Amino acid sequence: MRLLAFPPRGRWAGAALVWLVASCATPRAGAVLQRGAVVAEHPLATAVGVAVLEEGGNAADAAVATALALAVVFPQAGNLGGGGFALWVPASGEPRALDFRECAPAALRVDLFLDAQGRLDPRRSIEGPLAVGVPGTPHGLWRLFAECGSGRFGLAELAAPAIRLAEEGFAVDPWLARALQSEAVHARMDAAARERFYPGGRALRVGERLVQPELAETLRRFARRGPQGFYGGETASAIVNALVHAPVPGAPLERRGRMTLEDLRRYESEWLTPLVGAYRGREVIVMPPPSSGGLVELQVLGVLGGLSLEAEREPPAAGGYAPSARMLHVWIEAFRRSFADRAAHMGDPRFYDVPLRQLLSPEWIAERRTSIGERAKLDVRPWAPPPPPESPQTTHLSVLDRAGNAVSLTTTLNGSFGSGILVPGAGFLLNNEIDDFAVLAGVPNQFGLVGGEANALLPGKRPLSSMSPTVVRGADGRVELVLGSPGGPHIITAVTQVMLRVIDLEEPLVDAVRATRVHQQWRPATTWLENGFAPQIAHQLRRRGHQVEVSDMRFGSVQAIAVTPAGEPVAVSDPRRGGAAGIEGRGVSRPAEPPSTAGRPAVAPRRAARADAMAVPAPGGAFDTLPAGPE
Ligand code: DON
Repeated sequence: MRLLAFPPRGRWAGAALVWLVASCATPRAGAVLQRGAVVAEHPLATAVGVAVLEEGGNAADAAVATALALAVVFPQAGNLGGGGFALWVPASGEPRALDFRECAPAALRVDLFLDAQGRLDPRRSIEGPLAVGVPGTPHGLWRLFAECGSGRFGLAELAAPAIRLAEEGFAVDPWLARALQSEAVHARMDAAARERFYPGGRALRVGERLVQPELAETLRRFARRGPQGFYGGETASAIVNALVHAPVPGAPLERRGRMTLEDLRRYESEWLTPLVGAYRGREVIVMPPPSSGGLVELQVLGVLGGLSLEAEREPPAAGGYAPSARMLHVWIEAFRRSFADRAAHMGDPRFYDVPLRQLLSPEWIAERRTSIGERAKLDVRPWAPPPPPESPQTTHLSVLDRAGNAVSLTTTLNGSFGSGILVPGAGFLLNNEIDDFAVLAGVPNQFGLVGGEANALLPGKRPLSSMSPTVVRGADGRVELVLGSPGGPHIITAVTQVMLRVIDLEEPLVDAVRATRVHQQWRPATTWLENGFAPQIAHQLRRRGHQVEVSDMRFGSVQAIAVTPAGEPVAVSDPRRGGAAGIEGRGVSRPAEPPSTAGRPAVAPRRAARADAMAVPAPGGAFDTLPAGPE
């Protein structure tokens, strides 16, 4: 069957991906914005970042302070005990990609995850001490501060707001209270974590104060001594002790595989060269492996960039275009193909030779493009499991400062509240990132993702990630978009769809972030649609052969900043979750409420809060007021 359905033509023709490594156009010197902006998944953390910008800090300073604050006020995902990625895109100079992903402890072996019959026990990579990778966040934040910060602040100054929030406490917000209602979260937490989040045996409620003196002390040690204050001394010993005593699910107490002081001492974050693609006259700057997100984004944009889909845009009631079912079909087919490459070929390049050039070569992209026809091309699967679970376990923050420097930073504990192991005496949660490996080839992990040799578990190796911090620059080298998201594999599809909506459908950022999303990750063959598309869309996709399921889940939580041609930032926090946008001199937007929370939260409104979930400067300079909450 010949499948090429969309020959390149028109104004988008010939815009196929160009595979480049750090050969971005040098941006114009002296690019200056009217004001900087911060978007993060908690309004208190956003406010910390905005204050740093207002005091003359740059994007790296603000990102570090925001991330440290998230480690206190957003324990679901903000962390010291996890890891992540950050893109540093300075107004002048080369972009850099910071890898502070966790790695497997030296003694970790696949056989530790097998039961007596030699079968994989899936709990062991999610719960208990074997699930925990060596944390990367403190080293990564320190490096971002030390090598990209403005030099106007010491680490102690950037950590001070987080320390204060930990020491004096803050009012529990509806999103944290809601997360703690989950039985799965309660079941996973160890005794120390339950004492923290379930004092007296009951979950913290909205408006109650969460005070974390031990976390304040841990932050102080880090603020004073940098990485040595976390990877050595009291904090390192506390981590190792917590893990030695933690039971492995379904196994006798056994010590092998647990993290050691040496694992911690050896951990380092690393600068990598970002991948850069071209899409419709813009530069798209993304993370290289061990993120899979960047590669998948560039493959999908490469496939779509060679197609002319203008005729597939349907004007909505207001602002921008809407995608037709045929356009969604092409997006879904492009995702399906890239996620197949993800499963087979992507992993930590320190251990596995990821065929980057082949996966991004014009020939392969063209082959992928021409294989897309009018009907879905499914792998035959007898049964489709339910949508991959997603809860707020990862978090993204975007910062753009007045000088035009951008930071796009995603960090994670993996599962909600990570492994549920709270380090006694140090007050922070440890990740369960080991589940991101393909512990056994072909066996789906908690997100339904499969993999093989490329992402096999090996000591010291970093698990493949979907985290996709992304920065888009215009032809003049100026930043147009800074974005990223939590959501496991939904991260990749959510971030890509926001870019496609802004660039191809000319939607305002606020609409592009709010818009209903599709998700397709190769295995299973199912394509999920968020509830909210016109009913005929699912019907038309089914007629093209897609196995469509409409889901009540929300896919991702995009935190994005765009810049208007006049140099004004537009900052948007996804109304799917409780984040907030902030703009220098303009305060912080009010977050959306979780769906199950009826009425107003019990927390007092913040002084700087605005009555919307998104901060959008209107032409007159004030924020537009948009209804909070999901569509
Ligand atoms: O790195 C990854 O791909 C996963 N650990 C991310 C998990 C995640 O996004 C869950 N969040 N909502």
